[in-house]
Amino acid sequence: MDQTNKTLNVFITAGSGLLGKALLETCPNKYRLSATYFPNKPDKFPKSINFFELNVTNRDEVLNCIMKIKPDVIIHTAAIGNVDFCEKNKDISWATNVDGTKNIIEAARECNSEIIYISSNAVFDGSNPPYKEEDKINPLSYYGETKVICERLVINSRLKSVIIRAILMYGWHNSLERQNMVTWILDSISKGVPLKIVNDIYSNPLLSLNCAAAIWAIIKKEKTGIFHVAGADCISRYDFALKIAEIFDLDKSMLTPVPSSYFTGIASRPRNTCFCTDKMEQELEIKSIGIEEGLKILKDGINK
Ligand SMILES: NC(=O)c1ccc[n+]([C@@H]2O[C@H](COP(=O)([O-])OP(=O)(O)OC[C@H]3O[C@@H](n4cnc5c(N)ncnc54)[C@H](OP(=O)(O)O)[C@@H]3O)[C@@H](O)[C@H]2O)c1
Repeated sequence: MDQTNKTLNVFITAGSGLLGKALLETCPNKYRLSATYFPNKPDKFPKSINFFELNVTNRDEVLNCIMKIKPDVIIHTAAIGNVDFCEKNKDISWATNVDGTKNIIEAARECNSEIIYISSNAVFDGSNPPYKEEDKINPLSYYGETKVICERLVINSRLKSVIIRAILMYGWHNSLERQNMVTWILDSISKGVPLKIVNDIYSNPLLSLNCAAAIWAIIKKEKTGIFHVAGADCISRYDFALKIAEIFDLDKSMLTPVPSSYFTGIASRPRNTCFCTDKMEQELEIKSIGIEEGLKILKDGINK
């Protein structure tokens, strides 16, 4: 899709979210960008972007809007990504994650757009890491089930497509958006709120900017198929929290390790979904960023 000298028309759902923000900040100049928010409009975004409200569950709105823009590529990031919320609110999670994706696919078919769909490590059960792209999927949570269904919808659409499986993303988010591990730890410790963090759930934390770089490389290199996009370190949530406190000079004694059995009444989490990043690094030539480097990039961002 990145034919030389062609100004690609790229459409991003939820340019307001964590990954959407990173994509907007790093989009190559040669692409013409449209992005959506719903319902929270960010205070700040690059003025060159055509930014408007769009609820992905509204089929007619989605069709009208995308058929007007006729994008070459749709990067579909909009979703309800809160695993516990999805477990307790299945109807709205299905409507947003699954019906929303069906609407995007229908519109993409009308315009013959390529789809880049953002899936998750939650498609795996965590029993057999490190996970490669072709490994067997077996979601433990309702959120993971919606991601598996959407992956199949995208593949069965027979449109040109890419499935990106992201994992525990962190970065600076827009003020009204949900927190991630880094902003939650910083916010809590700086307010003097002690935290209990699980020490038996492992993943490789992914800087949102690293994920955005992989997506732009996928478009540039005209890749299709499934890609695991993850950070370089396979680490427990507790050890990640300690590193966050260390890099941001915060009091580590506010953090207490607990087993995941400590928290009851929440959605099941896979124990270890660390990804193998060989395909990302070799085919996309994107370096998987470790937590020390990623956290320093965020800290430098504040200082600048
Ligand atoms: N963050 C992670 O650790 C992680 C890991 C693996 C995979 N993923 C996947 O990666 C993608 C991006 O994640 P993220 O962390 O950037 O998510 P995020 O910050 O929670 O952003 C998701 C966005 O979707 C929007 N949205 C919710 N309902 C919508 C609707 N009906 N119509 C249109 N937009 C709607 C939200 O808008 P409002 O905030 O205004 O409601 C939000 O801006 C998601 O598909 C997620 O499942 C994320």
